[in-house]
Amino acid sequence: MHEIRKNALNRRLCVAPMMDWTDRHCRVFHRNLAPNALLFTEMITAEAIIHGNLNQLIGHDPVEHPLALQLGGSNPETLAMAVGQASDKGFSEINLNVGCPSDRVRNGQFGACLMAKPKLVAECCQSMIAASNIPVTVKCRIGIDDMDEEQGLDRFVDLVADVGVQVFYLHARKAWLNGLSPKENRDIPPLKYDRARRLARRRNDLSIVLNGGLETVDQISAESTGFSGVMLGRAAYRMPYLLTAVSEVFFAASPPSRREVVDAMAEYADRMEKTRVPLRNITRHMLGLYAGQRGAKHWRRQLGENARLSDDGGAFIRKISDECEELAARLAK
Ligand SMILES: Cc1cc2nc3c(=O)[nH]c(=O)nc-3n(C[C@H](O)[C@H](O)[C@H](O)COP(=O)(O)O)c2cc1C
Repeated sequence: MHEIRKNALNRRLCVAPMMDWTDRHCRVFHRNLAPNALLFTEMITAEAIIHGNLNQLIGHDPVEHPLALQLGGSNPETLAMAVGQASDKGFSEINLNVGCPSDRVRNGQFGACLMAKPKLVAECCQSMIAASNIPVTVKCRIGIDDMDEEQGLDRFVDLVADVGVQVFYLHARKAWLNGLSPKENRDIPPLKYDRARRLARRRNDLSIVLNGGLETVDQISAESTGFSGVMLGRAAYRMPYLLTAVSEVFFAASPPSRREVVDAMAEYADRMEKTRVPLRNITRHMLGLYAGQRGAKHWRRQLGENARLSDDGGAFIRKISDECEELAARLAK
């Protein structure tokens, strides 16, 4: 087994894997907001990695580093093969999805339903670790359905940690696999930060990163106590400037202005235009940049509706940003 360096990566601030959202363009945007955050790919199945176009699936810009690759799967051999293909592609760690409750995922026997099969998850991780020269980590829930969230979660984590997994991203609510949609499963089962904290205290030899419902700087600062870090999902996507405020608190990083982020993304958009990436594929992730600010509506509408019509790439993003700032200045008078 390769040596796993638990502390080599800083996981104080992580941006969650989100399918259809955290693609490579989104991650470049988040990187400009949070230079120290650990970013995650969307979940990619082990089968896809083995049979698909590797560059299309996991190609990324070095600026995205540190970046974790999230895999979905439950077959130890297939997962090891996928790890073999991906582990020299610049990722900082490989993460196994044991938290996603969608039907598509359940039918393939991976995601949150695997919380009921800790021995299988341990086997999967063991074979991934054997095939990997970077850390293998797990993202999971505190339980599923009627699983006992005290003993059940402890047993799950202990068995998986026994094979060498040292980092767990814990969405601090159960997944109810019968009857709730994936979206409902992100909101309805109650959040139990205390349960997550008890785990972090009992297994203080591991890195436990808290996830679920973290939305404001004050709440994040308060709730992060006792954990190795926090993982932000929807709040980071919908109110991305939050990442700068959290980075300021955690890393004393001086926050870039929205305009600096716009300029960096405009340059990126011009670079991507040369490889025929439509502007809209980049701007769709940026709609929340001015959330809560004067001009937010204008930004959202222009970027959302007109980016696809624009053929002047970065200049379009800069122009809308100028208009927002002018609008904000006028409204402030
Ligand atoms: C659109 C969307 C897609 C998601 N896709 C994934 C995924 O691919 N893998 C995963 O482990 N979790 C996925 N999640 C769950 C998030 O990673 C996170 O655990 C969840 O949203 C709770 O965190 P939050 O309350 O900060 O959003 C997804 C969530 C959303 C909203």
